[in-house]
Amino acid sequence: MKELNAFDEYDVILFDVLGDVVCGGFAAPLNYADYCMIVTDNGFDALFAANRIAASVREKARTHPLRLAGLIGNRTSKRDLIDKYVESVPMPVLEILPLIEDIRVSRVKGKTLFEMAESDRSLEYVCDYYLNIADQILARPEGVVPKDAADRELFSLLSDFYLNPAQPQARSEEELDLMMV
Ligand SMILES: Nc1ncnc2c1ncn2[C@@H]1O[C@H](COP(=O)(O)OP(=O)(O)OP(=O)(O)O)[C@@H](O)[C@H]1O
Ligand SMILES: [Mg+2]
Repeated sequence: MKELNAFDEYDVILFDVLGDVVCGGFAAPLNYADYCMIVTDNGFDALFAANRIAASVREKARTHPLRLAGLIGNRTSKRDLIDKYVESVPMPVLEILPLIEDIRVSRVKGKTLFEMAESDRSLEYVCDYYLNIADQILARPEGVVPKDAADRELFSLLSDFYLNPAQPQARSEEELDLMMV
C-alpha cells in the first residue's frame, strides 16, 4: 500500500479481510488502521470469530491507536444473538442489514448497489444502510478497546441461547399437555 502511495492519495482506505482467518497475517494490517469493523451474521460461528478479532484489536490497541468501531450485522433480520454477545462484550452495533436479494443481483451484474440505484430509485433504501455506516465512521467515533470473552465463557453463553430457548416455548408445551388430558 505504501508503494501505491495509498496512504496519501485517499481519504479512506478499507482493507477487507477474511474473518475466519484470524492469525498473524490478519492482525498485521491492524497496525496501520484507525478502526476495525466486524461484519457478522446472527449465528454462533461468526460471533465466535468476531470475538477472536476483538481479542486481536485489544492486543494491538496496547501499542497502536486502534479502536474497534463496532459490529455490523449482515444478512439477518434477527439480532438476538448479536445483542447477547454485545451485552457480554460491550461494543457499538453500527448497523443491521437484512438479507436483500438485490445485493446478490448487484454481484451478478458486476455493479455496485449505488450504480444500480442511479437508474432504480427503489434501491436507495439499500444504499442508506451503507451510507449510515460510512457516516458513522467519517464522524470518527470513539470506538472501544474490547474486552473479549474467554472461549469457554463465550461458548457457554452462545450455546445456552440455542440449547435453552426462552420460557414461552416451555409454557406452550404445558398447555398442550393440559389439552391432551
Ligand atoms: N445483506 C445481504 N443480502 C443478500 N446477499 C448478501 C448480503 N450481503 C452479502 N450478500 C451476498 O453474499 C455473498 C457473500 O458476501 P460477501 O462476499 O460479502 O461475504 P464474506 O463474508 O465477505 O465472504 P468471504 O468469507 O468469502 O470474504 C455475495 O454474493 C454477496 O453479494
Ligand atoms: Mg469477504
